[in-house]
Amino acid sequence: MGKIPENILNEIQDRCDIVEVISSYVSLKPAGRNFKACCPFHHEKTPSFIVSPDKQIYHCFGCNSGGNVFNFIKEYEKMDFIDAVKMLAEKTGVKLPEYKNHDDEDGSIVSTLYSVNDIAANYYAGILEKTGSSSEVRRYIAKRGLDAPVLKKFRVGYADSSWKALIDYLSGRGVREDMILKAGLAVKGKDNAYYDLFRNRVVFPIFDARDKIIGFGARVMDETLPKYINSPETAVYKKGLHLYGLNFAKANIKERNFAIITEGYLDVMTCYQYGVTNTIASLGTALTTEQIRLLKRYTHNVVMLYDADQAGEMASLRGLDLFLEEGMNVKIATLEKGHDPDSFLRKFGREKFDSAINKSKSLFTYKLDILKNRFDNRDPESKAEIIKEMLSTIHKVKNAIVKAEYIRLLSYELSVKEDAVWEELRKIKDKRQEPRDKGQGIRKNIDISPAEKILARLMLEDVNVVKMVRDELSPSDFRNQDIRNIAEALFSIDTEKGLIDVARLINSMENKVPQNIISFIVNEEVDIRDKEKNICDCIMTIKKENRSRLLKDIQSRLDVAQKSGYEEEEKRLLDEFNQLIKRGL
Ligand code: CTP
Ligand code: MN
Repeated sequence: MGKIPENILNEIQDRCDIVEVISSYVSLKPAGRNFKACCPFHHEKTPSFIVSPDKQIYHCFGCNSGGNVFNFIKEYEKMDFIDAVKMLAEKTGVKLPEYKNHDDEDGSIVSTLYSVNDIAANYYAGILEKTGSSSEVRRYIAKRGLDAPVLKKFRVGYADSSWKALIDYLSGRGVREDMILKAGLAVKGKDNAYYDLFRNRVVFPIFDARDKIIGFGARVMDETLPKYINSPETAVYKKGLHLYGLNFAKANIKERNFAIITEGYLDVMTCYQYGVTNTIASLGTALTTEQIRLLKRYTHNVVMLYDADQAGEMASLRGLDLFLEEGMNVKIATLEKGHDPDSFLRKFGREKFDSAINKSKSLFTYKLDILKNRFDNRDPESKAEIIKEMLSTIHKVKNAIVKAEYIRLLSYELSVKEDAVWEELRKIKDKRQEPRDKGQGIRKNIDISPAEKILARLMLEDVNVVKMVRDELSPSDFRNQDIRNIAEALFSIDTEKGLIDVARLINSMENKVPQNIISFIVNEEVDIRDKEKNICDCIMTIKKENRSRLLKDIQSRLDVAQKSGYEEEEKRLLDEFNQLIKRGL
């Protein structure tokens, strides 16, 4: 089933009351116009989970989970969004349309691409099947040690050296040429003709979490470069949104309540072959917030198992901070030098592998060890440098006790006063201007500038504010991507209609913003004694900030242009700069 039309979501939502639905899971107590409870999504003793019957949304001020009734079911039952909708549809007697019947343009190209990919995967697997055991690809696969069940499970295939075999095959099955292109399976040659993208390579289909094939990675069988050719981005494949192997691993990840993240296709497959079935891969790139959020549906615990050559890099360490920002527990396992999970398992076996996983270090220990190695001289400046780097991680730790313990350890390890470390930590906080709530517990990091948050909050409450803001700002003026998307949606609503239905807005923004953003903003306490002035101030602040960012950007480009003697570019930028200054706000 593809995307569920918004009007259906709204219909289901109209027929069920969020208070009633949530009451069947959590015992709610009335509190003013709302209901309160201890949050079902994190441990707490005093209730910070509220349900609003007026707005038909819920939000927890402790862990920041929130959204509408679909989001609640999805989170509570740990279901896909679609399954949550199905469940409520059944309860309310709303009939869901069959996928094929809905005519939404995007929906139909998406389903076409899924099936084109599926046919292509079958084609490549078929070619592999037909090759004899002495063929180059068979010898390569044997050398890598992949056995038949794993090849079958991961639908491994082979693209031979012909230029148009796949195109011909797909055309023969009635797939239109433009769809082959849109699936990213063909490329245009210099002669304007189309050719297969993958040739002479082992082909690994990339699946999404629901088993649909969204793209491919294809590896050479020798040392030729590039080692991999991957599908380009398509309507179904966006880099950084998926995790390789999650479709196969998700059940075991839930069961064992942790995931092992590796780098590559072969790591996942070999792990699987050795019975380590909670393994996924980030596919070479640095992990993104989206990937972490995807994984978070199944577990909050991860072990990073990256190749032993790169794991020491500070860059990959910075990526790890993202896990903390998302409230995940992350540990790092290291392998013997020169190994990746694939080669390690084959050389040392499962037992050694498990013990490497068991010996994984906390991010704190891991990072500190690296830094201590790097700055082996313990003069005050080096210590300060180590502490600065460590604090950039520690300040992202959500749990106050864990955080305090890390500070204690850090000061002990470096023999500096704990007070001094706390003072440095506070400096980081001040710099980031994190919105502090009044003792309501720890917030998941929703990083929105106060001006943007206040404006969004006031707009969501009152269409007249939408009108005011729309006259002054465009969506791209907002820095936070989520607010930008929300502004875009709000600016396009019919402002004559009066009220904004927040719970419905969440439906229309599904996949565009995290589910809890809107309930988070709506529940923000804002001083509305002088609403109009407040709005004007916020608009002004945003304009000013944008302007100074723009100026800074031009300045730094100007700098480069001057240094490299690009006179024309320099002149152009100078013009731009002066115009901006002249224009004022
Ligand atoms: N990768 C890529 N393009 C490259 C190199 C790497 O897309 N040119 C991605 C692939 O998803 C690959 C992952 O990064 O699986 C990890 O890279 P690497 O460790 O080099 O590859 P492996 O899959 O481990 O391959 P092998 O063990 O055969 O060298
Ligand atoms: Mn490898």
